[in-house]
Amino acid sequence: MEHNGFSFSILCGTLFSLLELHASLGDITYSIPEEMKRGSVIGNIATDLGLGADSLSAREARLDVDGRSRLYCEINANSGDLVVAETIDREELCGPRVACALKYELVLENPLELHRIIVQIQDINDNSPRFPSEHLQLEISESAVKGQRFPLNEAHDADVGINAVQSYTLERNDHFVLAVNTNKDGGKYGELVLEKELDREQQQEVTLLLSAVDGGTPRRSGTAIIHVTVLDANDNIPVFSQTAYKVSLPENSPLDTVVVTVSATDADEGQNGEVIYDFSGISDKAARLFSIERETGKIKVIGPIDFEVEAYYEMRVQAQDGAGLVSNTKVIFEITDINDNAPAIFLKSMKIPILENVLPGTEVGIINVMDKDSEGNRQVHCSIQQNVPFKLNPSIQNYYSLVTTSELDREIISDYNITITATDEGSPPLSSSKTIHLSVSDVNDNPPVFEEQSYSAYVTENNKPGSSMCSVTARDPDWRQNGTVVYSLLPSEVNGVPMSSFLSINGDTGVIHAVRAFDYEQFRSFKVHVVARDNGSPPLSSNVTVSVFITDENDNSPQILYPAPAGNSLMTEMVPKAALAGSLVSKVIAVDADSGQNAWLSYQIVKSTDPGLFTIGLHSGEIRAQRDITESDSMKQNLVISVKDNGQPSLSTTCDVYLLVSDNLAEVPELKDISHEESSKLTSYLIIALVSVSTFFLTFIILILAVKFCRRTKPRMLFDGAVAIPSAYFPPNYADVDGTGTLRSSYNYDAYLTTGSRTSDFKFVVGVMARFRVKSESVFANS
Ligand SMILES: *[C@@H]1O[C@H](CO)[C@@H](O)[C@H](O)[C@H]1NC(C)=O
Ligand SMILES: *[C@@H]1O[C@H](CO)[C@@H](O)[C@H](O)[C@H]1NC(C)=O
Ligand SMILES: *[C@@H]1O[C@H](CO)[C@@H](O)[C@H](O)[C@H]1NC(C)=O
Repeated sequence: MEHNGFSFSILCGTLFSLLELHASLGDITYSIPEEMKRGSVIGNIATDLGLGADSLSAREARLDVDGRSRLYCEINANSGDLVVAETIDREELCGPRVACALKYELVLENPLELHRIIVQIQDINDNSPRFPSEHLQLEISESAVKGQRFPLNEAHDADVGINAVQSYTLERNDHFVLAVNTNKDGGKYGELVLEKELDREQQQEVTLLLSAVDGGTPRRSGTAIIHVTVLDANDNIPVFSQTAYKVSLPENSPLDTVVVTVSATDADEGQNGEVIYDFSGISDKAARLFSIERETGKIKVIGPIDFEVEAYYEMRVQAQDGAGLVSNTKVIFEITDINDNAPAIFLKSMKIPILENVLPGTEVGIINVMDKDSEGNRQVHCSIQQNVPFKLNPSIQNYYSLVTTSELDREIISDYNITITATDEGSPPLSSSKTIHLSVSDVNDNPPVFEEQSYSAYVTENNKPGSSMCSVTARDPDWRQNGTVVYSLLPSEVNGVPMSSFLSINGDTGVIHAVRAFDYEQFRSFKVHVVARDNGSPPLSSNVTVSVFITDENDNSPQILYPAPAGNSLMTEMVPKAALAGSLVSKVIAVDADSGQNAWLSYQIVKSTDPGLFTIGLHSGEIRAQRDITESDSMKQNLVISVKDNGQPSLSTTCDVYLLVSDNLAEVPELKDISHEESSKLTSYLIIALVSVSTFFLTFIILILAVKFCRRTKPRMLFDGAVAIPSAYFPPNYADVDGTGTLRSSYNYDAYLTTGSRTSDFKFVVGVMARFRVKSESVFANS
């Protein structure tokens, strides 16, 4: 066994310095590098065992392995060499174990010998370092601080020892350096050390090239790419696009109008970059009007926007990212006015009612107009309708005064409805109106006015006292007592008697009453003034003339003036014995105090001594011979004459006429007998006066006529002439009036005769003066 050790040491020197000679009992150890080619000689076993080369084959030397299928080495029986039968890969054979050997047993027969043969396999650098993956994924938060370390996976090298991974290198970059550390088990690994902070927002991924190097000769290396993903840290706050949002919003904007959309961006990623919006500072009032959509930042209208309530809203809006970082902005809404308010009209003061006598330009009221809108929308113009005596005068600011423009007259228009219209300057303009009722109060400015300019009242004489004669009416358009009319008579006198004893007036109704019975024969008309007065203070009045006409009634019977009534013995007419037919013998003269028909007298012979001898003119009262008077006719002729007026009913009187057919006046005294029957109411002196005047008058006329007719030598005409004047007698009221309206001379005389009454007797005597008076009264009665 010893010489086996010797031979091995020889082999060693000849082959490889690596070969080792073990002088252990029967053991031969060889050392070879891995990856030797097939057939490479590891050593000569025969020699190392001290055997002849022949003996190996003779002794049927063979190699045994325990339990291994692959042999890797074999013995060349001829030369005794141990050769590589198959390429040996140490890494496959031994893996990471550093010591790697193949163990054999050499069996020799005849005699049986057993030797152990060990082949140690040396590593060569035939493998490069390798990373588990060529791409390393690394996630590093951007918030990582400088110096922070990030261990990297180890690279592996199948080789061992010095041929294993010895070091790492990192390609130059901005953020990381590499630190190489040794594990407790001696393995080396790299660590990324952050040298400059990452910013995801700048660079989301960093790519690094990592190399691992072993210690072999030559060195081998392996690389891997490190993908560093920069993880987001919530390091950015949301940023609004504007520091303040200022928006103008028209009032009355409909609900859901988007007023503005605020927007904030967050540079962060994911949740950190998700922004939600909300109001952070908002008044309660604004909160009822606006809402914000959390996700979109749209601010919408949710309530009625009224400029007149608030024209300016300011609120703060916050944007918050998922991690709770917040920023704020200011949002300002300026509400713009829309002309949505009509002007309002206020009556500040009103002087109602207005006195109707106020001067033009008097202020009767103050009006104020207001418009809640702004600027042009609150400029208001005010007006009232045309055709009223009022106008609006602009005063201070929005005040107007309502003044009269002309005089008012309550009696024409007593109230006015004034419509005030206010219009603003908006577009379209809005307007409103208000009607005020103005009443005009009364002033006593109208006197009562009679309906007629004058009144006439006709009353028949002998009226009943107290009967109403006529009525007057006056109107006063004033109000109440200012228009209440009271009637009264103006004090005056009629023939020296106070008016109040003739007439009275009902103060309320204006009806005029007769106080006493009137006598036409006393006076036929008079005038009275009626005053109408209102109850104002001071009162106003006016007056009117009422002419009262008394109409005649047939209340007087005719009165015989001639011949004188009975009792006067001398009332005898002389009739010449030679009187011819148709000659005037006498005349009855009668009067009637009444007038007109009531005084139209007619004469009739109702009884005569010798009917057929005399006739009487129906209206003239002239007694004429109807036939020639003869000697046989009675000397005394007696006629009863009836005088009747034409009234209804008519009144009559009778009288006696005594005629003496004689040429001798001496026979007259005999007439006393016949005159005995006469009766007269006239006083005796009156009769005497009448007869004497009448006789004197007649005689005078007869003398004149006699002188006149004597020249013509016509004696008969003397008698005709003696009664010439009475022959012209006609009732006065039926006397002809010539074209000029003057009465004929004969009428003048007749009228004189017809005036009658007890007082006329005097007029008769008084003569010419009385005649004129009678004349005018007659004309009056006639009209
Ligand atoms: C004023 O108006 C009132 C009520 O509408 C009406 O009764 C009255 O007749 C009017 N007056 C005038 C003068 O128009
Ligand atoms: C009557 O007129 C007077 C002024 O003349 C006035 O003061 C008064 O109020 C009027 N009366 C009525 C009832 O209108
Ligand atoms: C009657 O009226 C006239 C004018 O109409 C006036 O002049 C006169 O004074 C009045 N008389 C009385 C008593 O009122």
